[in-house]
Amino acid sequence: MKTFGFFDDQNREYVITDPATPFPWINYLGNEDFFGLISNTAGGYNFYKDAKFRRITRYRYNSVPMDNGGRYFYINDGESVWSPGWKPCKTKLDSYECRHGMNYTRITGSKNEVEASVLFFVPLKTWAEIQKVTIKNTSNKVKRLKLFSYTEWCLWNAATDGENFQRNLSTGEVEIENGGAAIYHKTEYKERRNHYAYYAVTNAQVDGYDTDRESFVGLYNDLSEPQCVTAGKPSNSVAHGWSPIASQYIEVTLQPGEQKDYIFLLGYAENAQEQKFAVGGTPADSTLITSLGTLDHTIINKEKAHEVIARFSTVEAVDAAYNELRQMWDELLSKYTVKSDDERMNRMVNIWNQYQCMITFNFSRSASFFESGVGRGMGFRDSNQDLVGFVHQVPSRARQRIIDIASTQFPDGGCYHQYQPLTKRGNNDIGGGFNDDPCWLIFGTVAYIKETGDFSILDEMVPFDNQPGTEVTLFDHLRISFNHVVENLGPHMLPLIGRADWNDCLNLNCFSWDPNESFQTTENNSEGSKAESLMIAGLFVLTGKQYVELCNKIARGEEAARAQKCIDAMVEAVKKHGWDGEWYLRAYDYYGNKIGSNECEEGKIFIESQGFCTMAGIGLEDGMVDRALDSCKKYLDSKHGMVLNHPAFTKYYVEMGEISSYPAGYKENAGIFCHNNPWVIIGETVARRGNDAWEHYTKICPAWIEDQTLHKVEPYVYCQMVAGKDAAKPGEGKNSWLTGTAAWNWITITQYILGIKPTYDGIEIDPCIPSTLKEYTVHRVLRDAEFDITIKNPNGKQSGVSQIVLDGSAIEGNIITATPGHHVVEVTM
Ligand code: GLC
Ligand code: GLC
Repeated sequence: MKTFGFFDDQNREYVITDPATPFPWINYLGNEDFFGLISNTAGGYNFYKDAKFRRITRYRYNSVPMDNGGRYFYINDGESVWSPGWKPCKTKLDSYECRHGMNYTRITGSKNEVEASVLFFVPLKTWAEIQKVTIKNTSNKVKRLKLFSYTEWCLWNAATDGENFQRNLSTGEVEIENGGAAIYHKTEYKERRNHYAYYAVTNAQVDGYDTDRESFVGLYNDLSEPQCVTAGKPSNSVAHGWSPIASQYIEVTLQPGEQKDYIFLLGYAENAQEQKFAVGGTPADSTLITSLGTLDHTIINKEKAHEVIARFSTVEAVDAAYNELRQMWDELLSKYTVKSDDERMNRMVNIWNQYQCMITFNFSRSASFFESGVGRGMGFRDSNQDLVGFVHQVPSRARQRIIDIASTQFPDGGCYHQYQPLTKRGNNDIGGGFNDDPCWLIFGTVAYIKETGDFSILDEMVPFDNQPGTEVTLFDHLRISFNHVVENLGPHMLPLIGRADWNDCLNLNCFSWDPNESFQTTENNSEGSKAESLMIAGLFVLTGKQYVELCNKIARGEEAARAQKCIDAMVEAVKKHGWDGEWYLRAYDYYGNKIGSNECEEGKIFIESQGFCTMAGIGLEDGMVDRALDSCKKYLDSKHGMVLNHPAFTKYYVEMGEISSYPAGYKENAGIFCHNNPWVIIGETVARRGNDAWEHYTKICPAWIEDQTLHKVEPYVYCQMVAGKDAAKPGEGKNSWLTGTAAWNWITITQYILGIKPTYDGIEIDPCIPSTLKEYTVHRVLRDAEFDITIKNPNGKQSGVSQIVLDGSAIEGNIITATPGHHVVEVTM
């Protein structure tokens, strides 16, 4: 079977060996404020904090050819013109390799005995991307090369950048310094904007530049053959409107065997209003050309850029920053590691699943090669889920995130479905009314406290809808979150669904035939609706139990007792009105008709309620959990994972909304929504069925992918959806990277299968593994305690612990306290 790359676990890299991957295989640079998306051919773009409002470089989504635009380098060697990443030239290379690592990417190409390697990364605490270009002459002749860089500026707002051309094509402005060594993008800087971007060569003089796209590329050329590159000569163009770019030109002479490094830096800076301009003062550089051709009062105060350029002007400084980044990842990935004979599981747990959790935490669902960065901010439920996969890495960031999320809640417990990362304000277009949302705040907060032991977060004063003066404690936010479900029950005493629950596409109250409406924002006719959700019922019982445990822990026994009654009532309601005989129902619709029942013609069984009700253990003692799990196997499972519902909808049911609008086998209509497979897997562990849990786990886990061509998207991260058994190409993946799948699979494998769970007091050891797994060791750092836990399974069991020896003495029960220091734990199943 054709493969396009392999895992290099030693270096924590995925190595791509063929640039023409079945889809661009990308990576993420930066991890706090300044970010970049980069494909295996150096396509992609950068932004500061918010992919919509601070887009720095331009990118064309879904274009022809695919993956158009990026940070490109061209080498004209007199014989041929080529790019180290193959694109955009697409000249056949003598060798190619792309190594995607933890927040860095290194792309190396060679041609005619010249090797060019570019290392891309964002140094810690820096608002810039470094591109370290190393060119080596591997021949025994002198080489004279012409090197061109290329990147295109975006006019800041990625949405209007693609539409408002009557304005955009006249507003572009740049400044050029040092003969083009530094190029500044300052569109709209004269007016309200207090930020600019720059692209600079920090360690060498340049021999020319271009800042106007048409002058560099040619109006009817494409990026594979810019006219300046073909001619081997820059035009030193100054952009006035149209499309500003940044391109440097360097003449490189290399003796046989010689190698040179060029440091390119793409940065972003903000200036306070009163310090925006270099007025009065003389700009540092005498060759400065402004768009007016003279010194004027709109010249940027470039102090901040100069500081960063100076800081990274030597190879030593760049290498040191790169090492710092690598050390940060050593540290981040050291909190949970596993050693076992299963190389594929090890690499997911130790490297790629954790990495993806950090990325989804940072980006929520905003920017990937499937999310254009203009559509969505941070999701309320999404971010809480992401946090659970990330909290062990940097707990302090998770803490801030919880406060930010809770601040978008309303006094009645409802909340904005999304908020913008730049402003942290709720998004009014989407609004609220997704009745599962509040429960997720409990889920996220509990995970944070169990990881850190930091109960003080509960006393933080947090506003409603970001309105100063409305603050109550975070604990109160949790209480009203819990109550929001209790106060919104339907005729069967099950939770009313509102606009939708976790399944954004099960829009039971929208009834839309309007071709101009979006299902997500269309009017929500919940008023008078009977639509109830079994997914929320299960989620409520699961997170409600967490809430009760928390209340007991902080001596709020009365509140715990009150909450427990509500949970008991919900369990009864599910058993009475939510069980279909062989599985849990999915919902009741607006009129009170069943959804996800054997009585239905299509969509007889849905995964979400099976997942949540089994995780919550509803009816475990009555055999309901086992029956529901068996039904998942029987009706939902396939070679590539479990589909969301079965049979797929083939007609449009107006009372169900978007779900039935999708073609059968895709997305929420019987696609394999990887996000909810782990719910059933955790359900399997509740039923103590380790072999079944494992089988489901490996079906959707990237490390087990065999057919890379079919799977299409990156083989090192989870995707949101894989085409289901009713689709044209079952097994074809889409929407990789930004998905709750990452966090859910992380807790599934680490806490529920390998069975190392953080608790308020320490660690609970509760493996539920395949009987073939005979031994493994987990290294876990929790607060100030460090554990080396070896689990032996000599008799091939699937669950249960018969003995735990902590630091040499046998203990009672299966919880070990997080006493500071190093501990050795030996577990026998
Ligand atoms: C997407 C959304 C998530 C939603 C899911 C199911 O993954 O990001 O919020 O729950 O789809 O519709
Ligand atoms: C679409 C997608 C769904 C996503 C929602 C929110 O409905 O199918 O997965 O959650 O949009 O943007």
